[in-house]
Amino acid sequence: MVNEPNSLPFDSVMNPGLGKYISLYNEAIENPEKFYGDIAQILDWYKRWDKVLDDSKSPYFRWYVNGKLNLSYNAVDRHIQENRRNKAAYIYVNEKGVEKIVTYQGLFKRVNAFSQALKDLGIGKGDRIAIYMPMIIEEIVAMLSAARIGAVFTLVFSGFGAEALADRINDSGAKIVITADGGFRRGKVIPLKKTVDSALEMTKSVESVIVVNHVGNEINMVEGRDYWYHHIVGEKSYVEPERMDSNDPLFILYTSGTTGKPKGVIHGNGGYGVWVANTLKWTFDPQENDRWWCAADIGWITGHSYIVFAPLILGLTSILYEGSLDYPFPDQMWRLVSYYGVNILYTSPTAIRALMKYGDAYPRNHDLSSLKTLGTVGEPINPKTWEWYYKVIGNSKCPIVDTYWQTETGGIIISPSIGIGYGPLKPGSATFPLPGIDPVITDDSGNKVDSGQKGYLTIRKPWPGLMLGLNNQDEKYRTSYFEKIKGFYFTGDYAIRDKDGFYWLLGRSDEVLKVSGHRIGTIEIEDALLSTGIVAEAGVFGKPHQVKGESIVAFVVLKSDANVDSPAEALKKGVRDNFGSLMTPDEIHIVKSLPKTRSGKIMRRIIKAVYLNQISGDVSTLESEASVTEIREAIEKFRKDLGGVGD
Ligand code: WT7
Repeated sequence: MVNEPNSLPFDSVMNPGLGKYISLYNEAIENPEKFYGDIAQILDWYKRWDKVLDDSKSPYFRWYVNGKLNLSYNAVDRHIQENRRNKAAYIYVNEKGVEKIVTYQGLFKRVNAFSQALKDLGIGKGDRIAIYMPMIIEEIVAMLSAARIGAVFTLVFSGFGAEALADRINDSGAKIVITADGGFRRGKVIPLKKTVDSALEMTKSVESVIVVNHVGNEINMVEGRDYWYHHIVGEKSYVEPERMDSNDPLFILYTSGTTGKPKGVIHGNGGYGVWVANTLKWTFDPQENDRWWCAADIGWITGHSYIVFAPLILGLTSILYEGSLDYPFPDQMWRLVSYYGVNILYTSPTAIRALMKYGDAYPRNHDLSSLKTLGTVGEPINPKTWEWYYKVIGNSKCPIVDTYWQTETGGIIISPSIGIGYGPLKPGSATFPLPGIDPVITDDSGNKVDSGQKGYLTIRKPWPGLMLGLNNQDEKYRTSYFEKIKGFYFTGDYAIRDKDGFYWLLGRSDEVLKVSGHRIGTIEIEDALLSTGIVAEAGVFGKPHQVKGESIVAFVVLKSDANVDSPAEALKKGVRDNFGSLMTPDEIHIVKSLPKTRSGKIMRRIIKAVYLNQISGDVSTLESEASVTEIREAIEKFRKDLGGVGD
């Protein structure tokens, strides 16, 4: 069953534009050697690959075997040899309206100078670099410089706290941290360097810290360890790019899973570069003079792929915005779109919902006619939000490109593709798989479910953007992603393929939350609560939220000797200070006990169902490890323990 190829619904969506998509999709299946060879031409290679795919050690797939290239060369050098030398690579702007334009030539200069500075500090091929920075040009320069000299970078989102930063430094073994004195956010300064100082008390591998003087706040510099960026960057104008193997690692990006510790997803140079550049072309069809704004944070995969690597490889001009989309004005985003004449806008459903709440007058006050295409990413987009984005922002003339993908997939995998042909859109559906992507929706035993039935979204064949593996966890890579449904890549998402072949993503099937489009593990939050020292047990779940998609709710049992006033507030503060506001629960309820299975597993689904009053007749789906009687007992007991909470 599972081995039949998916037939595409060409008849029902037949449209003149769909033709090229169909032929590319078919070519990827029928003649992969040619298809993957052709799409790799988007990059310049020092040496061509011997084979497009080595799948002999499946699921450790290796793309463009023995191909040699450098992504900083592809992102920067080749454009200045062509006619893009004076083209803006980035128009940086912040919430104060300060603007800085960096051309491809300027980026080339900066990347070379910083590459030399890194080498002078003893950083070379294979070394690990942690980057903890605001959304500034130097952050991109740091990434490209690492790529140039073959060092492996790991970005830590600047909203994370010291403990989260320390965990990532320790797991990656970073020798150096690149940061700034601070960043701007909603009129406040985020003290990044201070957080680095605290994190370094919990780590051993870091030898030096480079600090960009960005906000000008008072910071502590440690003699012999900390260096100002502007002091170590010299005049040197050329550092030969390392000839990287296609499958050498490029970066590690930590993401949440079903266990407490975040997983370090490793992406390589060749396959990743090929995939992000092609997918940007296919899905958004950017033109030479377009202005592209991917309004994500570089700290997440969306930023890595579609603010940094893909647009630079294609030689585009990007807007780089440091700040909140609704600060200092509710129409900040529309002001920027209008002022900069943005042609393609790519953001999250959460951001759209937040801006939609301010009303239509804000966007309607601006000339948004430069917009041609509108994209979304990170979580399912509900039809109402889709319609608003389409009508009010796009004036009913811009297609909505709902892109589905993950940190692990490197780039977009299911999405309408404006560049190669797309049919009618259905609000809320990410439509069809991109060429090379072969999705199968299965039940628990791996059987393909019928169209219209909900199941697990899996991908049957590898594609070049798929991660190389997990840092320090070779075996876990296989067991987390290729064992649940044997041999298929397991996304962790529920999906439906409708009778017309459209894919509808229905959210996570596992213990992972999506809060404002950010991926957070429930167990990770429970661990953060436990680390405060006053919690004995914690159960965390997501509650539907109108703007954020989900909000974090925690039920905790305090340790018997815990003696704190307002424990819920104290816990929120503790988690916020050490891990960041992203991981901080919106609600914390203190209870005497939590429902547990006989083996001691906390029954999160039961806590959630009781709290949200969602107990139906069939309780067996709530917990697989317990009998129905046990579940009923647990529900009754928890209802009593809960008293008035949630009423
Ligand atoms: C999870 C991956 C992809 C970059 C940003 C998030 C959810 C992502 C969509 C979409 C429905 C989506 C899934 C996925 N997701 N895009 N268009 N429709 N759900 O990357 O942090 O690795 O999260 O985001 O649940 O598994 P991430």
